[in-house]
Parts: sequence; C-alpha cells; structure tokens
Amino acid sequence: MSKGQKLLNWVDDRFPLSSMMKEHVTEYYAPKNFNFWYFFGSLAMLVLVIQIVTGIFLTMNYKPDASLNGAGIPVAFASVEYIMRDVAGGWIIRYMHSTGASLFFVVGYLHMFRGLIYGSYKQPRELVWIFGTLIFLCLMGEAFMGYLLPWGQMSFWGAQVIVNLFSSIPVIGPDLSVFIRGDFVVGDATLNRFFALHVIAIPLILLALVVAHLIALHEVGSNNPDGVEIKKLKGEDGKPLDGIPFHPYYTVKDILGVAVFLIVFSAIVFFAPEMGGFFLEHPNFDQADPLKTPPHIAPVWYFTPFYAILRAVPSFAGTQVWGVLAMGAAVVLIAFLPWLDKSPVKSIRYRGPKFKFMLVLFIIAFIGLGILGAAPSTNVRTVVAQLLSVIYFAFFLGMPFYTKNDVGSTPVPTRVTMSTPARQVRFLVLVAVTVVAATLFAKFI
Ligand code: HEM
Repeated sequence: MSKGQKLLNWVDDRFPLSSMMKEHVTEYYAPKNFNFWYFFGSLAMLVLVIQIVTGIFLTMNYKPDASLNGAGIPVAFASVEYIMRDVAGGWIIRYMHSTGASLFFVVGYLHMFRGLIYGSYKQPRELVWIFGTLIFLCLMGEAFMGYLLPWGQMSFWGAQVIVNLFSSIPVIGPDLSVFIRGDFVVGDATLNRFFALHVIAIPLILLALVVAHLIALHEVGSNNPDGVEIKKLKGEDGKPLDGIPFHPYYTVKDILGVAVFLIVFSAIVFFAPEMGGFFLEHPNFDQADPLKTPPHIAPVWYFTPFYAILRAVPSFAGTQVWGVLAMGAAVVLIAFLPWLDKSPVKSIRYRGPKFKFMLVLFIIAFIGLGILGAAPSTNVRTVVAQLLSVIYFAFFLGMPFYTKNDVGSTPVPTRVTMSTPARQVRFLVLVAVTVVAATLFAKFI
C-alpha cells in the first residue's frame, strides 16, 4: 500500500473524506446532455471565491471611516485611492473585486434563466430553487452594502435613496430607516455597520446557502435540457442509464467555461474596468458630499430592472410604499415559480407556444426595465416602464393559466437527447435577436 493510500485510510477512519468525494463528485451521476447553460453554476462558485479572496486583501488596506483626513477627504474614500495608487497590486485586486461584483450578477442571471427555460425549479427541485432565491436576495444585500464602502457620491446618495424607501412603510417606517442607518442620515455609523455586514455576516450566510443549495441538488439529482428524470431509468448496476460521473466528465468540461469566463473577466479588468460607467459609476470617483446631490442618481445596472419597477408605480397620498411593495414583490415572486408553473412539461423544448411567447415578452420587459431604470425618468419612459412592469408581473401571475395545458407537438422523450450544434445556434440567435430588439426598443424611447 502506498504512503498516500495509507494517509487516506488514516483520514477516512476519522473523517468521511472518500465517501463524501464519492457521493458528491466521482459517483455523482449527472445527465450526459448538459449544454453550455450548465457552466454557470460552477462559474458562480468561481466568482464567489474570487470575491472572497480579493475582498480579504482589500480589507487589509481599506478603512471604514467617514471622518475627514487632514486634506479634507473622507478616510474611507482616501483609503480606496491609496489601494489604487500606492498599495502594490492594489489596483488589480480592487478591479477584480468590482468586476467580480458585476459578473456575479451576469453569471447569476444566466444561471437563473437556465432554471427558467428548463423548468429546473419544478418538483422535486423546489428547495434547490428556494435556496437559490435566498442566495439572490443575499447577493443583492451584499452588493448594496459593498457599494457604500468607497464612500463616493453614488455610494452615499444611492444608500440615502434606498434606505429612505424604508421610511415609507406605514407606522414603523421612519424608526426602521433610522435603525438601519444608525443615524438620521447616512453617516459613519452606517458605513461601519455596512462594512461589518458586507465583510463577514452576509458572506457567511451566502456560503451556508450555497452549501444547502448543492446538498439539496445532490439529494434529488440535476435536471437537464430535456427535463427528463434520469433516476427513473437505471441499469442493472443501479446507475442511471443517462448519467455520467461528475468527475472526470464535468470537472473537465467546466474547465472550458472557466477558460472563456477568465478571458472575458481579464479583458474587463485590464481594458475596461469601469465598463463605460456601468460597473463603476462616474460620480463615484468624487468623494461623498452630503451637501451636493448628484443630478441623476441611479443604482448599478444589476438593480435597475427592480428600480424601474419602483419608479413606475406612482406615489399615492405622498407615499412611495406601493412602489416599494411592487419592487419587493418583483423579487419575491421568483421564489414562487415552482407553484406558479402548472405545466406537465419541464423543458422549453417540449412546451407549447404560450410559454415561449410569454418568455420572449418577459425577456423584453426585464431588459427594457433595466435600461429604463438606469436612465433619468421622463413622462414617456415612465409610461413604458409601467407597461413593461405589467408584462413582468403578468409573466408570473398569469403563469398558472397560460402553462396549464401548454405542451408542444413533440412529446418528452424517455431518454435524454444530445443537443445538435444547429439547435444551439438557433436558440442563441433567437436570444440574441430578442436582446438586441429589447435594447433598441428601450434606447429609442
Ligand atoms: C452564489 C450563487 C450560486 C451558486 C454558487 C450556485 C451554484 C450552483 C451549482 C454549482 C449548481 C450545479 C451546476 C449547475 O446546474 O449549473 C447549481 C444548480 C442550480 N441552481 Fe444554483 N447557484 C447559485 C445561485 C442560484 C440562484 C440565484 C438560483 C435561482 C434563483 C439557482 C438555482 C439553481 C437551480 C434550479 C439549479 C439546478 C439546475 C438543474 O439541475 O437544471 N442558483 N447551482
């Protein structure tokens, strides 16, 4: 017996290392027909690691302090400038972290979209989906709190606008917003608590949720582009006929996704870290000034669809509470998809025309709202945002009706099918056309 084997046996006698590896990696049977949509789960894990590692290094030089230094610059803002200019390698660590934040949402939205098109939230994967939605909520909180830390103009005024929203809640609102800020305005107390939540509390919850997400997934097994349950058809050896071990097959395949992702990630970090003001907003290069409101306050791009819904709802009797409720509902509704979708079919491949039509409308609404939420509001834009918000909610609330008997002409196969390149290209072209159409539509209004 080799020394390595002896060591492994020693560990296994004390900790279930080999059996865990078998259960979750080498003998986790995943459907053999995964396509590129299945890259985004492992990519989300990669970004999570990038964020934690770069975050640790940023924390070594960042100071959560809103008081002014000798030069009249807030210490927090100056510490970020110090990281960018003086700390060895500081600039790359910061750009990796800021780019990672945006790409986390790109990867996350694509990961969720995959769940939507293949019905991965449907029975028996409801808990996988619920843990996913909780992850999404945490991610939004994490990004919002992180954005305050550089203490720039947009950090300050963005937090001011969002925390003020809580004060529109009847009865408890005003006290609640003071409780969140720790002060009557966004200030040093707010910065300190957001720092504590951003660097330790939320990341801990996020990590725990990701573990729960994966345990739940491995309990029921992965869905796939055909929506066929591979566990239903097992060979004599008890292994799913359409399954292949996660390792080595998908560990190796995921390397392709990682390589493409790292090319895109590095291109942004090295050549366009601000991404034209979308990843790092221009007003945030000015230090926070509580006496000077920026002419146009907009959240970072990944929040804008929900922000547009908030602004689309008019305030009644001087309160914004209905807008706040609509924005909250837009996020919470995602968690209810497993019960809203009544279709007997999981994958879009075998669904009927009604779901496909509603999905196209939904993509247009989501992207359109995203673009509108980033732009200053005008009367026309408000009306369009209202229309798109109605479509957004109709997609979810109408789902029990339009999915009920909506099955396509091709029946769901009993075995998984391997995707042809032509089918993937057709689908990508359809998505690209929808995205371009939505972008043009929103740009011209
Ligand atoms: C930190 C964020 C997240 C991480 C690290 C993560 C990780 C993963 C991984 C590694 C998988 C298995 C590989 C794959 O199917 O792609 C997976 C599957 C899945 N995730 Fe996530 N996830 C995250 C967020 C979310 C969110 C926000 C949702 C939805 C609201 C979600 C819903 C799902 C579903 C439904 C599956 C099963 C897909 C299937 O079997 O077809 N995840 N996730």
